[in-house]
Amino acid sequence: MHEGAIAARTLPGWFAGFEPGHVGVASLDTHLLWAYVHIVLFVYWLGADVGLYLVMIFARNPSLSFETRATLIRLAFYIDLFPRVCFALILPVGMQLVRGTGLYPVSGRLLALAWTAGVLWSVLHLALIRFKGTNIARRLRLINQVYELLMGGFFISVGFASLTTGAPIGVEWFAAKLLLFGLIFWVILGIDVVFQPFSMILRMGPGGSTVEKERAVTRATNITMAWAILLYVLVLAVAFLGKLKPLW
Ligand code: HEM
Repeated sequence: MHEGAIAARTLPGWFAGFEPGHVGVASLDTHLLWAYVHIVLFVYWLGADVGLYLVMIFARNPSLSFETRATLIRLAFYIDLFPRVCFALILPVGMQLVRGTGLYPVSGRLLALAWTAGVLWSVLHLALIRFKGTNIARRLRLINQVYELLMGGFFISVGFASLTTGAPIGVEWFAAKLLLFGLIFWVILGIDVVFQPFSMILRMGPGGSTVEKERAVTRATNITMAWAILLYVLVLAVAFLGKLKPLW
């Protein structure tokens, strides 16, 4: 084997393909780049979620004025964009990694489908803010919920079938990762459909606060926070499986 090629094999990821003595630019390891983007999405997802969690703690406080609470909630709608878009894009980026590792034969078409879905879903979240309070937003919210329901069901089924039968995914850590990834869709669907503490506060309006209504807001906020913690645990577990790839 060419001496330079042997030396290149020992070089770390970024420099893979760079042959000492060869005049030129080291080829970029695209797989490592996708892994980096994957981690960035993970960081911005959980990082922004911490901000949302804090907003919930503050917004449920009835001693704050309605204006302050409404401003916090408006801020939360923008912070919420980060985890939503990260969630939408982590799938196509993950598929790039699957293709790179050969865990599953991802065709060009499947990859294109994943990117189209990821980008369109991100645009939907932006549109939800742009058209807030209109009929368009109501329709988009419904589309969002149906998508979450179907995608959750799909990934839970694929993960579960793979863990119990070994197909279509033969690698256990990856099958478990997909199962938990599917559960994330359903937990978020639960938050989107069932618990709406922010809407309850906004519906009260200035001067509309009563002991009963505040009690209902506190209850809804506490349940949402419990679901949020479940969500964070699932996201951390999905990341753990991707990084440590445990065998059992
Ligand atoms: C909640 C969503 C997800 C989170 C937080 C997450 C997080 C992570 C993290 C932190 C790593 C380790 C990266 C490294 O240091 O190399 C990783 C690896 C990986 N992830 Fe994800 N991931 C998620 C979803 C997905 C999805 C949906 C797929 C595929 C469809 C995927 C495919 C992969 C693959 C194949 C690896 C291994 C890459 C390698 O070994 O080079 N991930 N993930």
